[in-house]
Amino acid sequence: MRVSVLHDAVPPGARPDQDDNLVQAREVALALKAGGHLASLCPWEGSPLASLARLSAQEPDAVFNLVEEPLGQAARIHTAPVWLAHQGLAFAGAGGKAMLVTSHKLLAKRALAAAGLPTPAWRTPGGKGQGVSPEPWLIKAVWEHGSLGIDDDSLVPAGKPKRLAQALAAKQAQVGGPCFAEAYIEGREFNLALLAGQGGVRLLPPAEIVFDDFAEGQLRVVGYRAKWEEASYEYHHTPRCFAFPESDRALLERLRDLAHACWKLFDLRGWARVDFRVDRRGKPWILEVNANPCLAADAGFSAAAAQAGLDQAAVVADILADLNQPKQGRA
Ligand SMILES: Nc1ncnc2c1ncn2[C@@H]1O[C@H](COP(=O)(O)OP(=O)(O)O)[C@@H](O)[C@H]1O
Ligand SMILES: [Mg+2]
Repeated sequence: MRVSVLHDAVPPGARPDQDDNLVQAREVALALKAGGHLASLCPWEGSPLASLARLSAQEPDAVFNLVEEPLGQAARIHTAPVWLAHQGLAFAGAGGKAMLVTSHKLLAKRALAAAGLPTPAWRTPGGKGQGVSPEPWLIKAVWEHGSLGIDDDSLVPAGKPKRLAQALAAKQAQVGGPCFAEAYIEGREFNLALLAGQGGVRLLPPAEIVFDDFAEGQLRVVGYRAKWEEASYEYHHTPRCFAFPESDRALLERLRDLAHACWKLFDLRGWARVDFRVDRRGKPWILEVNANPCLAADAGFSAAAAQAGLDQAAVVADILADLNQPKQGRA
Protein backbone atom coordinates (compact mmCIF):
# COMPACT_ATOMS: atom_id res chain seq x y z
CA MET A 1 0.00 0.00 0.00
CA ARG A 2 1.13 3.56 -0.69
CA VAL A 3 0.91 5.39 2.64
CA SER A 4 1.49 9.07 3.36
CA VAL A 5 2.56 9.81 6.93
CA LEU A 6 1.01 13.19 7.75
CA HIS A 7 2.86 15.06 10.50
CA ASP A 8 3.36 18.50 12.01
CA ALA A 9 5.45 21.03 10.12
CA VAL A 10 7.87 21.52 13.00
CA PRO A 11 9.85 24.78 12.70
CA PRO A 12 13.54 24.91 13.67
CA GLY A 13 14.06 25.71 17.34
CA ALA A 14 10.78 24.07 18.40
CA ARG A 15 10.29 22.63 21.90
CA PRO A 16 11.30 18.98 22.46
CA ASP A 17 7.66 17.87 22.70
CA GLN A 18 7.05 19.43 19.26
CA ASP A 19 10.22 17.91 17.73
CA ASP A 20 8.99 14.56 18.96
CA ASN A 21 6.26 14.61 16.31
CA LEU A 22 8.93 14.40 13.58
CA VAL A 23 10.82 11.62 15.38
CA GLN A 24 7.57 9.70 15.56
CA ALA A 25 6.72 10.32 11.88
CA ARG A 26 10.11 9.05 10.71
CA GLU A 27 9.81 5.93 12.85
CA VAL A 28 6.25 5.23 11.62
CA ALA A 29 7.45 5.60 8.01
CA LEU A 30 10.26 3.09 8.69
CA ALA A 31 7.81 0.70 10.37
CA LEU A 32 5.48 0.95 7.36
CA LYS A 33 8.39 0.19 5.03
CA ALA A 34 9.36 -2.79 7.19
CA GLY A 35 5.81 -4.05 6.61
CA GLY A 36 6.25 -3.83 2.83
CA HIS A 37 4.43 -0.52 2.29
CA LEU A 38 5.60 2.48 0.31
CA ALA A 39 5.76 5.28 2.86
CA SER A 40 6.29 9.02 2.32
CA LEU A 41 6.37 11.84 4.84
CA CYS A 42 4.04 14.79 4.30
CA PRO A 43 3.94 17.86 6.58
CA TRP A 44 0.56 19.42 7.39
CA GLU A 45 1.28 23.12 7.13
CA GLY A 46 -0.60 26.38 7.60
CA SER A 47 -2.77 26.14 4.52
CA PRO A 48 -4.93 22.99 4.43
CA LEU A 49 -5.39 23.37 0.66
CA ALA A 50 -1.65 23.53 -0.02
CA SER A 51 -1.09 20.56 2.32
CA LEU A 52 -3.83 18.56 0.60
CA ALA A 53 -2.31 19.34 -2.81
CA ARG A 54 1.06 18.03 -1.58
CA LEU A 55 -0.68 14.99 -0.17
CA SER A 56 -2.55 14.14 -3.35
CA ALA A 57 0.68 14.47 -5.35
CA GLN A 58 1.87 11.45 -3.35
CA GLU A 59 -1.23 9.52 -4.55
CA PRO A 60 -1.70 7.70 -1.24
CA ASP A 61 -3.94 4.69 -0.80
CA ALA A 62 -4.09 5.69 2.86
CA VAL A 63 -2.94 8.53 5.10
CA PHE A 64 -1.38 7.83 8.51
CA ASN A 65 -2.43 10.90 10.47
CA LEU A 66 0.02 11.97 13.20
CA VAL A 67 -0.82 15.69 13.15
CA GLU A 68 -0.92 17.26 16.63
CA GLU A 69 -0.33 21.00 16.29
CA PRO A 70 -1.11 22.70 12.96
CA LEU A 71 0.55 26.13 12.99
CA GLY A 72 1.97 25.22 16.40
CA GLN A 73 -1.55 25.30 17.89
CA ALA A 74 -2.86 22.24 19.71
CA ALA A 75 -6.40 23.66 19.35
CA ARG A 76 -6.22 22.91 15.60
CA ILE A 77 -5.46 19.20 16.00
CA HIS A 78 -8.80 18.12 14.56
CA THR A 79 -8.47 20.10 11.34
CA ALA A 80 -6.35 17.43 9.62
CA PRO A 81 -8.78 14.49 10.06
CA VAL A 82 -11.73 16.78 9.20
CA TRP A 83 -10.07 17.69 5.90
CA LEU A 84 -8.99 14.11 5.21
CA ALA A 85 -12.59 12.93 5.57
CA HIS A 86 -13.83 15.86 3.50
CA GLN A 87 -11.45 14.93 0.69
CA GLY A 88 -12.62 11.31 0.78
CA LEU A 89 -9.20 9.96 1.71
CA ALA A 90 -8.80 6.73 3.67
CA PHE A 91 -6.92 7.55 6.86
CA ALA A 92 -5.63 5.94 10.03
CA GLY A 93 -6.45 7.30 13.47
CA ALA A 94 -9.37 9.05 15.11
CA GLY A 95 -11.86 11.05 13.07
CA GLY A 96 -12.27 14.81 13.42
CA LYS A 97 -15.00 14.73 16.06
CA ALA A 98 -13.19 12.25 18.31
CA MET A 99 -9.97 14.24 17.93
CA LEU A 100 -11.71 17.51 18.81
CA VAL A 101 -13.67 16.23 21.80
CA THR A 102 -10.82 14.26 23.38
CA SER A 103 -8.22 16.99 22.82
CA HIS A 104 -10.36 19.71 24.43
CA LYS A 105 -9.96 18.45 27.99
CA LEU A 106 -13.13 20.19 29.24
CA LEU A 107 -15.31 18.81 26.43
CA ALA A 108 -13.87 15.37 27.19
CA LYS A 109 -14.59 15.74 30.91
CA ARG A 110 -18.18 16.81 30.23
CA ALA A 111 -18.67 13.78 27.97
CA LEU A 112 -17.11 11.46 30.56
CA ALA A 113 -19.25 12.89 33.37
CA ALA A 114 -22.42 12.63 31.25
CA ALA A 115 -21.59 8.97 30.56
CA GLY A 116 -21.10 8.29 34.28
CA LEU A 117 -17.35 7.70 33.88
CA PRO A 118 -15.08 8.96 36.68
CA THR A 119 -13.49 12.31 35.85
CA PRO A 120 -12.06 14.50 38.66
CA ALA A 121 -14.05 17.58 39.75
CA TRP A 122 -13.24 20.75 37.80
CA ARG A 123 -13.71 24.51 37.66
CA THR A 124 -13.31 26.91 34.74
CA PRO A 125 -11.86 30.42 35.29
CA GLY A 126 -15.50 31.63 35.32
CA GLY A 127 -16.20 29.37 38.31
CA LYS A 128 -18.27 26.81 36.36
CA GLY A 129 -17.64 23.14 36.79
CA GLN A 130 -18.77 19.97 38.43
CA GLY A 131 -18.07 18.03 41.59
CA VAL A 132 -16.79 19.02 45.01
CA SER A 133 -13.09 18.91 45.70
CA PRO A 134 -11.61 18.56 49.15
CA GLU A 135 -8.25 18.07 47.32
CA PRO A 136 -6.04 20.89 46.09
CA TRP A 137 -6.57 21.99 42.51
CA LEU A 138 -4.15 21.24 39.67
CA ILE A 139 -4.09 23.88 36.94
CA LYS A 140 -4.17 22.30 33.47
CA ALA A 141 -4.27 23.64 29.92
CA VAL A 142 -7.53 22.92 28.09
CA TRP A 143 -5.85 22.01 24.78
CA GLU A 144 -2.22 21.28 25.45
CA HIS A 145 -0.70 17.83 25.75
CA GLY A 146 2.72 16.48 26.71
CA SER A 147 2.26 18.01 30.19
CA LEU A 148 2.89 21.51 28.81
CA GLY A 149 2.57 23.91 31.75
CA ILE A 150 2.37 21.17 34.40
CA ASP A 151 4.99 22.10 36.94
CA ASP A 152 5.56 22.74 40.67
CA ASP A 153 3.48 25.93 40.52
CA SER A 154 0.45 24.06 39.07
CA LEU A 155 -0.98 23.07 42.45
CA VAL A 156 -3.28 25.48 44.33
CA PRO A 157 -4.82 24.75 47.75
CA ALA A 158 -8.59 24.25 47.83
CA GLY A 159 -10.83 26.99 49.34
CA LYS A 160 -8.72 29.92 48.08
CA PRO A 161 -10.75 31.35 45.17
CA LYS A 162 -8.60 34.48 44.73
CA ARG A 163 -5.39 32.47 44.59
CA LEU A 164 -7.02 30.04 42.17
CA ALA A 165 -8.10 32.87 39.85
CA GLN A 166 -4.56 34.33 39.92
CA ALA A 167 -2.96 30.96 39.25
CA LEU A 168 -5.32 30.30 36.33
CA ALA A 169 -4.54 33.70 34.80
CA ALA A 170 -0.78 33.19 35.22
CA LYS A 171 -0.87 29.70 33.69
CA GLN A 172 -2.99 30.91 30.76
CA ALA A 173 -0.37 33.54 30.02
CA GLN A 174 2.40 30.92 30.30
CA VAL A 175 0.85 28.32 27.97
CA GLY A 176 -0.83 30.84 25.67
CA GLY A 177 -4.30 29.32 25.88
CA PRO A 178 -7.25 28.55 28.17
CA CYS A 179 -6.71 26.65 31.42
CA PHE A 180 -8.93 25.07 34.05
CA ALA A 181 -8.58 23.67 37.55
CA GLU A 182 -8.97 19.97 38.21
CA ALA A 183 -9.15 18.16 41.55
CA TYR A 184 -5.66 16.87 42.24
CA ILE A 185 -5.73 13.09 42.75
CA GLU A 186 -2.93 11.98 45.03
CA GLY A 187 -2.09 8.36 44.30
CA ARG A 188 -0.84 5.88 41.74
CA GLU A 189 -0.71 6.68 38.01
CA PHE A 190 -1.51 4.27 35.14
CA ASN A 191 -1.55 4.37 31.33
CA LEU A 192 -3.74 1.99 29.35
CA ALA A 193 -2.99 1.66 25.65
CA LEU A 194 -5.57 0.40 23.16
CA LEU A 195 -4.81 -0.98 19.70
CA ALA A 196 -7.25 -1.74 16.89
CA GLY A 197 -6.67 -4.57 14.44
CA GLN A 198 -8.37 -7.21 12.32
CA GLY A 199 -10.20 -8.69 15.30
CA GLY A 200 -11.32 -5.36 16.82
CA VAL A 201 -9.77 -3.27 19.57
CA ARG A 202 -7.70 -4.81 22.35
CA LEU A 203 -6.03 -3.58 25.51
CA LEU A 204 -2.24 -3.67 25.69
CA PRO A 205 -0.60 -4.49 29.04
CA PRO A 206 -1.26 -1.73 31.61
CA ALA A 207 1.67 0.42 32.73
CA GLU A 208 2.15 2.14 36.07
CA ILE A 209 4.30 5.27 36.24
CA VAL A 210 6.27 4.94 39.44
CA PHE A 211 7.34 8.03 41.42
CA ASP A 212 10.66 6.59 42.40
CA ASP A 213 12.42 8.16 45.37
CA PHE A 214 10.47 11.42 45.23
CA ALA A 215 11.20 13.60 48.24
CA GLU A 216 8.57 14.22 50.93
CA GLY A 217 6.41 17.08 49.67
CA GLN A 218 7.68 16.83 46.06
CA LEU A 219 4.75 17.04 43.62
CA ARG A 220 4.07 13.53 42.28
CA VAL A 221 3.11 14.26 38.69
CA VAL A 222 4.46 13.37 35.27
CA GLY A 223 5.01 17.03 34.49
CA TYR A 224 6.87 18.68 31.59
CA ARG A 225 10.29 18.03 33.13
CA ALA A 226 9.52 14.33 33.68
CA LYS A 227 8.52 13.92 30.04
CA TRP A 228 10.98 16.09 28.16
CA GLU A 229 13.90 17.41 30.21
CA GLU A 230 16.52 14.68 30.15
CA ALA A 231 18.72 16.50 32.67
CA SER A 232 15.94 16.69 35.28
CA TYR A 233 15.52 14.51 38.39
CA GLU A 234 11.90 13.74 37.43
CA TYR A 235 12.90 12.43 33.96
CA HIS A 236 14.99 9.68 35.57
CA HIS A 237 12.68 8.93 38.50
CA THR A 238 9.37 8.24 36.75
CA PRO A 239 9.93 4.79 35.18
CA ARG A 240 7.14 2.64 33.73
CA CYS A 241 6.38 -0.64 35.43
CA PHE A 242 4.50 -3.55 33.88
CA ALA A 243 4.76 -6.05 36.75
CA PHE A 244 1.92 -6.11 39.27
CA PRO A 245 1.15 -8.12 42.38
CA GLU A 246 -1.93 -10.35 42.46
CA SER A 247 -3.55 -7.82 44.81
CA ASP A 248 -3.82 -5.34 41.89
CA ARG A 249 -5.84 -7.74 39.75
CA ALA A 250 -9.30 -6.20 40.43
CA LEU A 251 -7.97 -2.65 40.00
CA LEU A 252 -6.33 -3.49 36.66
CA GLU A 253 -9.56 -5.13 35.47
CA ARG A 254 -11.45 -1.94 36.36
CA LEU A 255 -8.90 0.19 34.49
CA ARG A 256 -9.26 -2.07 31.43
CA ASP A 257 -13.06 -1.72 31.53
CA LEU A 258 -12.83 2.05 31.83
CA ALA A 259 -10.32 2.33 28.98
CA HIS A 260 -12.60 0.24 26.81
CA ALA A 261 -15.57 2.42 27.76
CA CYS A 262 -13.58 5.50 26.65
CA TRP A 263 -12.78 3.89 23.29
CA LYS A 264 -16.49 3.34 22.69
CA LEU A 265 -17.70 6.65 24.12
CA PHE A 266 -15.40 8.77 21.96
CA ASP A 267 -15.55 6.53 18.89
CA LEU A 268 -11.77 6.15 18.78
CA ARG A 269 -9.96 4.48 15.88
CA GLY A 270 -6.57 2.89 15.29
CA TRP A 271 -4.80 3.48 18.58
CA ALA A 272 -5.30 5.41 21.81
CA ARG A 273 -4.12 5.71 25.41
CA VAL A 274 -6.09 6.55 28.54
CA ASP A 275 -4.28 8.11 31.52
CA PHE A 276 -5.50 7.41 35.05
CA ARG A 277 -4.80 8.24 38.68
CA VAL A 278 -6.02 5.98 41.45
CA ASP A 279 -6.84 7.74 44.71
CA ARG A 280 -5.90 6.58 48.19
CA ARG A 281 -9.17 4.64 48.48
CA GLY A 282 -8.38 2.70 45.30
CA LYS A 283 -10.86 4.55 43.08
CA PRO A 284 -9.62 5.16 39.52
CA TRP A 285 -10.08 8.55 37.87
CA ILE A 286 -9.69 9.22 34.14
CA LEU A 287 -7.24 12.10 33.65
CA GLU A 288 -7.42 12.22 29.88
CA VAL A 289 -8.03 10.27 26.70
CA ASN A 290 -5.28 10.52 24.05
CA ALA A 291 -6.72 9.87 20.59
CA ASN A 292 -3.28 9.89 18.93
CA PRO A 293 -0.62 9.16 21.57
CA CYS A 294 2.99 9.16 20.42
CA LEU A 295 4.08 6.01 18.56
CA ALA A 296 7.84 6.64 18.85
CA ALA A 297 9.88 3.72 20.16
CA ASP A 298 10.63 5.46 23.48
CA ALA A 299 6.99 6.43 24.17
CA GLY A 300 4.52 4.69 26.48
CA PHE A 301 2.44 3.21 23.67
CA SER A 302 5.40 1.36 22.11
CA ALA A 303 6.54 0.19 25.56
CA ALA A 304 3.09 -1.36 26.19
CA ALA A 305 3.04 -2.89 22.69
CA ALA A 306 6.51 -4.38 23.29
CA GLN A 307 5.15 -6.04 26.45
CA ALA A 308 2.56 -7.71 24.20
CA GLY A 309 5.34 -8.82 21.82
CA LEU A 310 4.50 -6.21 19.17
CA ASP A 311 7.16 -4.11 17.46
CA GLN A 312 6.39 -0.85 15.64
CA ALA A 313 5.82 -2.68 12.32
CA ALA A 314 3.18 -4.90 13.98
CA VAL A 315 1.56 -1.86 15.61
CA VAL A 316 1.25 0.12 12.37
CA ALA A 317 -0.09 -2.98 10.58
CA ASP A 318 -2.87 -3.27 13.19
CA ILE A 319 -3.62 0.45 12.93
CA LEU A 320 -3.89 0.20 9.13
CA ALA A 321 -6.46 -2.59 9.62
CA ASP A 322 -8.81 0.05 11.12
CA LEU A 323 -8.74 2.73 8.42
CA ASN A 324 -11.49 5.32 8.19
CA GLN A 325 -12.80 4.62 4.70
CA PRO A 326 -14.24 7.39 2.53
CA LYS A 327 -18.02 7.66 2.73
CA GLN A 328 -19.86 6.77 -0.45
CA GLY A 329 -20.68 9.67 -2.66
CA ARG A 330 -17.61 11.68 -1.68
CA ALA A 331 -15.02 12.74 -4.21
N1 LIG B 1 -6.20 15.60 38.32
C1 LIG B 1 -4.93 15.21 38.43
N2 LIG B 1 -4.48 14.70 39.59
C2 LIG B 1 -3.19 14.30 39.71
N3 LIG B 1 -2.28 14.40 38.73
C3 LIG B 1 -2.69 14.90 37.54
C4 LIG B 1 -4.03 15.32 37.31
N4 LIG B 1 -4.13 15.76 36.06
C5 LIG B 1 -2.91 15.63 35.51
N5 LIG B 1 -2.05 15.12 36.38
C6 LIG B 1 -0.61 14.86 36.16
O1 LIG B 1 -0.18 15.59 35.04
C7 LIG B 1 0.19 14.72 33.96
C8 LIG B 1 -0.29 15.26 32.63
O2 LIG B 1 -1.68 15.45 32.68
P1 LIG B 1 -2.66 14.88 31.57
O3 LIG B 1 -4.06 15.20 31.97
O4 LIG B 1 -2.36 13.44 31.30
O5 LIG B 1 -2.34 15.80 30.31
P2 LIG B 1 -1.28 15.70 29.10
O6 LIG B 1 -0.55 14.40 29.21
O7 LIG B 1 -2.15 15.78 27.89
O8 LIG B 1 -0.42 16.90 29.25
C9 LIG B 1 -0.43 13.37 34.33
O9 LIG B 1 0.31 12.32 33.75
C10 LIG B 1 -0.38 13.38 35.85
O10 LIG B 1 0.90 13.02 36.35
MG1 LIG C 1 -1.35 12.50 29.67
